[in-house]
Amino acid sequence: MSTIPFDQRDGWIWLDGEFVPWKEATVNVINHGLHYGSSVFEGMRMYNGKIFKNREHMERLALSAKMLDMDQDIEIDIEGWMKAAIETCEKNNLHDAYIRPIIWRGSEGMGVDARVAKPHMAIAAWSWGKYFSGGADGISLITAPWKKAPPSCTPYQAKCGGLYVTNSLNKHYAVDKGYTDVVVLDWRGQVAESSGANIFAVIDGVLKTPVADCFLNGITRQTALELAPIIGVTAEECVLMLEDLEKASEVFVTGTAAEITPVSKINETEYKVGPVTLAMQEAYVKATH
Ligand SMILES: Cc1ncc(COP(=O)(O)O)c(C=O)c1O
Repeated sequence: MSTIPFDQRDGWIWLDGEFVPWKEATVNVINHGLHYGSSVFEGMRMYNGKIFKNREHMERLALSAKMLDMDQDIEIDIEGWMKAAIETCEKNNLHDAYIRPIIWRGSEGMGVDARVAKPHMAIAAWSWGKYFSGGADGISLITAPWKKAPPSCTPYQAKCGGLYVTNSLNKHYAVDKGYTDVVVLDWRGQVAESSGANIFAVIDGVLKTPVADCFLNGITRQTALELAPIIGVTAEECVLMLEDLEKASEVFVTGTAAEITPVSKINETEYKVGPVTLAMQEAYVKATH
């Protein structure tokens, strides 16, 4: 990934329906999204000129916006947003890109009643290679200090900016301990996800992943579940505990940014990059290209 700070880049950002020069796509510091975390966003990838699951991502963005009561003030326009995402890549001459649509409440008002501030929308795109450097050999995960709350405590289906506070804290913890990322448990002690990806494990030949009942139901996670029968693997959504992961023969994480990344270590348990992970990676490349 380029080291140029994001506010100093060249190119174009789609902002409230128009393309503006990248450096001019700014907001005021008195901004509701900044102060109260009232933003929803997506991460999508374009491969070889085609956005993978553009519609599914924009539908999840719409769901996130609805969950934050934003649909009262912004027109949900899946078709228009999909077109704008493609045009953003074209305008920036990108064929392979990471795309970041975001809706946030602006500077029209401040206060806990978020509806005083109007939703705004932007779409930016840039080149972003592998999310995990060295990920081909597998990443290491450590049990996270912060847990996923019960579904009655957060709008967990929404990809909401404010909900990422504990994800960041968990990631800091992992990196400080010399690990790449985390295994986040939920309030019951069940395995949930990573800080920015979902988790799969091969146990007794079956590909298993936790039920997404209190964390983000990743679009890559759903794709992996669709691809499993195609590569001849039985997959199931079930309760997974840390002890189950200790018995796994393979573990990998899934995400739009992470794609299919093998896991080589969880706490003290080590794993090899195995045949199911390799087959899933191959199937994912085929599906996305
Ligand atoms: C917390 C979290 N879980 C899971 C995922 C995977 O979601 P997706 O596959 O839709 O990118 C992400 C991706 O951004 C994430 O941030």
